[in-house]
Amino acid sequence: MDTDFNSFASACRLRVDSALDQYFPAGSDPTQLRAAMRYSLFNGGKRVRPILAYASALAINPSIELTLIDPVACALECLHSYSLVHDDLPAMDDDDLRRGKPTCHIAFTEASAILAGDGLQTLAFDLLTQTELPANTQIQLVRQLAAGSGAEGMVLGQAIDLAAVDHQLSLAQLETMHNHKTGALIRAAVAMGALSAGASAAQLAALDNYAAAIGLAFQVQDDILDVTADTATLGKQQGADIARNKPTYVSLLGLDSAKAKAAELHQQAQAALLDFGDSAVHLRQLARYIVERSN
Ligand code: IPE
Ligand code: IPE
Ligand code: MG
Ligand code: MG
Ligand code: MG
Repeated sequence: MDTDFNSFASACRLRVDSALDQYFPAGSDPTQLRAAMRYSLFNGGKRVRPILAYASALAINPSIELTLIDPVACALECLHSYSLVHDDLPAMDDDDLRRGKPTCHIAFTEASAILAGDGLQTLAFDLLTQTELPANTQIQLVRQLAAGSGAEGMVLGQAIDLAAVDHQLSLAQLETMHNHKTGALIRAAVAMGALSAGASAAQLAALDNYAAAIGLAFQVQDDILDVTADTATLGKQQGADIARNKPTYVSLLGLDSAKAKAAELHQQAQAALLDFGDSAVHLRQLARYIVERSN
């Protein structure tokens, strides 16, 4: 990946990590709830959704003050981190390794992990009220995050995923599952960055086409890496999908077709940005990163 993207991504990660630390500092913690939440936030996530929100805002307004976007980026990461804590629980994927460390329910207790997830989710919505953006924009952000993460978005996708264990899905059903469990929050991230920067309806529609393509591509690549990567690089157990008999792009189509699908989605994402000029450079680089990433 080119150095430009690496330095942009590193700068975004620094911003979001330092903002998260300020919004949710270590403090009085009689029950270790705070420790479990911070453990799940500060454990080496790639911060893709925050980076997307910054990149999307910059695509709309290259001179936007990024402090306006910090709470939005943090909200997305809190929501995502909660989804991972719950995804790893014994009742769901039952995983013991996440971001290279014991999962939250292993490092703490199962009940603590459930509550840490709950706390991270509500923190996400609180953060959206802490931007300097106008109140009506804040309401739009809350609605986008709720739609992307709730019972018509990510949570529905997780329900479809769990119901699909040991079942054969059609390609269309698999795509629906992926679009919800992973695509919906990625679409919200792009929309939220753009809304924060005052995007027009036409710009939002174009960016949503981009986001839908990279959202699906992200999960296709996640399925590919479950087969091709190693546990140390992934920071999560390689082969977990196969071990749990999960339908994935690779199990349904085979590795080569899954890779071809990721490449096709990458092209779709780039095509959606054709009307944007240089300001969409980070979004273009992110699309490539999503299908080329190795963890
Ligand atoms: C993993 O997300 C779960 C999926 C939605 C595929 P990421 O690959 O973004 O995980 P982190 O945040 O970098 O750990
Ligand atoms: C998770 O999908 C999607 C979420 C909403 C968390 P996976 O179950 O494939 O994610 P990993 O592979 O455990 O990160
Ligand atoms: Mg899962
Ligand atoms: Mg999982
Ligand atoms: Mg996976």
